[in-house]
Amino acid sequence: MTTLHPGDVDLRCSVAGVELPNPLMTASGCAAAGRELHQFVDVSSLGAVVTKSVMEAPRSGRGTPRMAETPSGMLNSIGLQGPGIEGFLEHDLPWLRAVGARTVLSIAGVSVAEYAQLARRLRRVLGIVMVEVNISCPNVEDRGQVFACDPGAAAAVIGAVRAELRPEVRVLAKLSPDVTDVVAVARSVVAAGADGLTMINTMLGMAIDTDTMRPVLAGTTGGLSGPAIRPVAVRCVYQVRAALPQVPIVGVGGVRSGRDALELMLAGADAIQLGTVLFHDPNAPVRIADELRAELATRGVSKLADVVGHAHRLGVT
Ligand code: SIN
Repeated sequence: MTTLHPGDVDLRCSVAGVELPNPLMTASGCAAAGRELHQFVDVSSLGAVVTKSVMEAPRSGRGTPRMAETPSGMLNSIGLQGPGIEGFLEHDLPWLRAVGARTVLSIAGVSVAEYAQLARRLRRVLGIVMVEVNISCPNVEDRGQVFACDPGAAAAVIGAVRAELRPEVRVLAKLSPDVTDVVAVARSVVAAGADGLTMINTMLGMAIDTDTMRPVLAGTTGGLSGPAIRPVAVRCVYQVRAALPQVPIVGVGGVRSGRDALELMLAGADAIQLGTVLFHDPNAPVRIADELRAELATRGVSKLADVVGHAHRLGVT
């Protein structure tokens, strides 16, 4: 194996036909619509900015406390706070376009009709390269609203969104790890029209303060993210890549280094989202891109695409 110079490594990638200069995106909910992060990193240099999930109406979210530290991770219970679709289109999207970011809009709803309405609203909107459909937020009043926990409900949402969007706008379905068979959900949303999958959203968790003897989060339960869940993300990506090798996958879950990103790509991710790491290292997209280049260079790999899914090619060098 010949070691290359990191500068010779090509990090370009493609997700469902959308070409990106590198595979590193923000994870939904971890950088709002990019403005704050832009103070640290030029967001136009990222593969893409994935927005906080936007719903039809503005929403204040759950009560506080909304976040809790856990060993190697973090719980959040935000409750989909956001400006609503009109607020996003008026204030956030023009800014993202002005700075030259590739924008992936995350949308969320409480019913199939709300998702369809959001997608319909986007029909004449330019400047969004993909729509990530968040069907897996764990912080909802009713577990029945976690559409990604049921293959039929997940497909109903994705089918409705696909039917309303312009065909060239790619649809990513964001899946939950809190299911018995993630492959069944993946198959179902792909059959309904998803162009790709984002895996994984946070896992439902909970922390109790042993002094107050009460739940730490006002919302009682929350979504667990960070390095603690990375092996779960690797497992989900690996299983789905094995079952659906042609379906693009965006891997997300506890990535904090170039080596972590490489691990998810070896499992089958075409691109990577960064979430919890941004809270303590907003420069992480730049650092991790450099580290990924170096990891590939030491392995003699000149093109990122060559390592995607490599862990499936057992016995092949
Ligand atoms: C939240 O806003 O509660 C988190 C959203 C998500 O995990 O999908």
